[in-house]
Amino acid sequence: MSQRLKDRVAVVTGAARGIGRAIAERFASEGARVACLDVSAGRIEQAVAEMQAAGHNVRGYVVDVSNRAAVRAVFERIEVDFGAPIAALVNNAAWIRYQAPQDIDEETLDRMLGVGLKALVWTLQAALPQLERSGHGAVVNICSTAAVRATADSMAYCAVKGGVAALTRAAAVDFGRRGIRVNAIAPAFVPTAAALANFNGAAVTRRTESTPLGRLAQPEEIAAVATFLVSDDSTFINGELIIADGGRANAAL
Ligand SMILES: NC(=O)c1ccc[n+]([C@@H]2O[C@H](COP(=O)([O-])OP(=O)(O)OC[C@H]3O[C@@H](n4cnc5c(N)ncnc54)[C@H](O)[C@@H]3O)[C@@H](O)[C@H]2O)c1
Repeated sequence: MSQRLKDRVAVVTGAARGIGRAIAERFASEGARVACLDVSAGRIEQAVAEMQAAGHNVRGYVVDVSNRAAVRAVFERIEVDFGAPIAALVNNAAWIRYQAPQDIDEETLDRMLGVGLKALVWTLQAALPQLERSGHGAVVNICSTAAVRATADSMAYCAVKGGVAALTRAAAVDFGRRGIRVNAIAPAFVPTAAALANFNGAAVTRRTESTPLGRLAQPEEIAAVATFLVSDDSTFINGELIIADGGRANAAL
């Protein structure tokens, strides 16, 4: 494995499982020191123990990323713990429910927006001074093809991810002036435990068959794009939404 992120401090939110965990592992394999944030204490403790056992330089932090004060405090602690400013931030955490428009309730919508969109404002605010001081500052927001394509019962999810795409463009303007790049990745269906809880059986088969590559993405393939976007291999890419969907959005299959 190359060492494109050697000694850099990286933060990955929602790192206990799924795509976030794959990103944390890939960053660590590339030489980064990774702060793994998650709201689930049990899951992050176990995931971090497994990653450490595999030789990765990772630490776990329990935090609800939708809580501004908690985010600020944990980002300050990360700099102290690692002894260096954060150079890479991946906003991956999400809490997702698919509901028919008439069934969307206030509590569900608030939580989806809180974790999936509001949290990005808090982490960007908290990380800004550190990203700037690091000299390599780069942010990746995990968006979704839901930002550009809709499916049934996805009104709230599309609103969250459409917001992430727009926020990414806006942040790229403001942060770009400080030498920090902000980009997003839009995966289509990735068969993580969370995704399989929302879709299974025929819905998964349909998604597989309508993908030109004839298969679904693995979390590691999204992690590879995230690695490129925080590395010095993408130093002039800023404000982009990279679609990583095996060609599905462009196909009429
Ligand atoms: N899996 C897919 O099909 C797919 C497709 C497109 C985009 N995405 C996006 O990829 C990201 C990861 O998806 P996944 O399938 O790996 O999800 P996941 O549910 O497996 O992982 C999300 C993690 O975020 C954590 N989390 C939830 N609320 C939190 C909070 N308030 N604070 C901190 N952490 C919190 C969870 O505990 C969990 O570990 C999400 O942003 C999702 O929208 C996923």
